[in-house]
Amino acid sequence: MRSSLHTPVCDLLGCDYPVVLAGMGGVSRSGLVSAVTAAGGFGFLGMVRESPELIRAEVAGVRAATGRDFGVNLIPAATDPTLFAAELDACIAERVPVVSLFWDLSVGAIQRLRAAGILVACQVGSVREAVAAEQAGAQILIAQGVEAGGHIRGTTPLAALVSQVVAAVGVPVLAAGGIATGQDLAALRGLGAQGAVIGTAFLATEESYAHTYHKQRIVDAKAGMTVRTDAFHVNWPRGAYVRVLPNSVTGGVWGDPFSGRREAIGKEGERTIWLFSTDSPSRAMTGNLEAMALYAGEGAAQIGAIVPAAERLRAIVAVAEAAIAADAVSARTGGVDAAPVSASPVCYAGEADDRYMGFAAADELLAILNELLEAERAGARVTARTAAEAPDAAMAELMKQVYADEARWCGMLLGWVRRLGGTPSGQVGAFYDKAMAIAGIAERAAFINRGQGWVVRKLREILARVRDDSLHADLADMLKAHEENIARVNEKLG
Ligand SMILES: Cc1cc2nc3c(=O)[nH]c(=O)nc-3n(C[C@H](O)[C@H](O)[C@H](O)COP(=O)(O)O)c2cc1C
Repeated sequence: MRSSLHTPVCDLLGCDYPVVLAGMGGVSRSGLVSAVTAAGGFGFLGMVRESPELIRAEVAGVRAATGRDFGVNLIPAATDPTLFAAELDACIAERVPVVSLFWDLSVGAIQRLRAAGILVACQVGSVREAVAAEQAGAQILIAQGVEAGGHIRGTTPLAALVSQVVAAVGVPVLAAGGIATGQDLAALRGLGAQGAVIGTAFLATEESYAHTYHKQRIVDAKAGMTVRTDAFHVNWPRGAYVRVLPNSVTGGVWGDPFSGRREAIGKEGERTIWLFSTDSPSRAMTGNLEAMALYAGEGAAQIGAIVPAAERLRAIVAVAEAAIAADAVSARTGGVDAAPVSASPVCYAGEADDRYMGFAAADELLAILNELLEAERAGARVTARTAAEAPDAAMAELMKQVYADEARWCGMLLGWVRRLGGTPSGQVGAFYDKAMAIAGIAERAAFINRGQGWVVRKLREILARVRDDSLHADLADMLKAHEENIARVNEKLG
């Protein structure tokens, strides 16, 4: 039977559950990728800066263990361009099903991969990057929140980023950063993410290529312990932040990371591991493991043991499925947990009662909420693009503010559709194409206001017929915000 967690991205990736192992360099090798994919998830090999020979060997390792699809992760910015081109060649020659890219946007790489029939995912840290990656051809976006372990691209907390990115793009969005439990996954699904990309929780598993020292430090981690720092910088573009567990480097024991001092602290075969480098301790490393980058996301405190990867995946899936089922039951019983309700002498069917009283019944409400969701999504995309195109800074700022509101309402509507037991629409309202056909920014802003006016009318019509107090309050807030935004845009247009 199909899991209740199944989303369209599962069909794209060829997996049963939308639980994706992050392509962690030095950690996500064939053993871990095979274990996750065989258990029904999806896995990326972490191949940043690795040789084409290693990529080929690791791909062969996964194929020997499982017939399921998998991916390879690469990072253009952290790789010598000649090596990066050779890595792409290897992925194309091996017909790797999916490649994920991170950090900088390499339009050329996306084009090469897509021309070879490879599905491309891009991990992003902001809405601006998400829109640019989609325009460049990314078919899946991974919204990475600031809670993430390893390199962190942005500064926005995951829940806010997911809502904003889902509103701004049309391709499936996966969430990454601090996700360690099924509750986390269920909550992000409620915000419109189609699934989760998980690093830290899979690092602390038996099959991961990380050193046992690193795995155990994650198991021992306490809440709020991780540190965001730029101290681990050798091998990467300057100014890149990572999230790690505290150690002698973050504690300042080794002095200024940018003093130019170069000190060997370990070995991986013949390769030297330098102090302040981005290498985290792998199984094959020896030396001062404590002083290496002990990457960990904010979910580390939730991880209590080093277990087989399939066990970790199954636990996340089981809890997420249960949370989603409980949410649906709670929506049906109006928040009262499955307690038996005695039949009313007047009317015993909740839905009939709603109709009789003049309130909108659940199916009608769901249709309207989905219609509003499509309209808000269209509005969010139009305002995001208009903000980027507007030559006038004040207009750009105004469009950004309207966009932030539209994105917020998308998240609110998505949540309510799910809470009422419906399926959120994935469509973008026809308003988007009509608005984007208008080249002049002022004319388009005036058209945006007409669209906002339509939303205001729709909200006024439905508000009188909404019985649930909390949904009523949310829709009333949305109405007020739309009225205010219409006034601000009108004022700007004069
Ligand atoms: C040890 C480690 C190594 C990572 N290496 C990479 C990498 O090579 N490429 C990449 O795109 N992301 C990398 N990441 C970031 C992940 O893609 C993802 O954003 C992150 O793991 C999600 O947060 P979480 O660790 O809290 O689950 C790494 C993360 C960790 C923890």
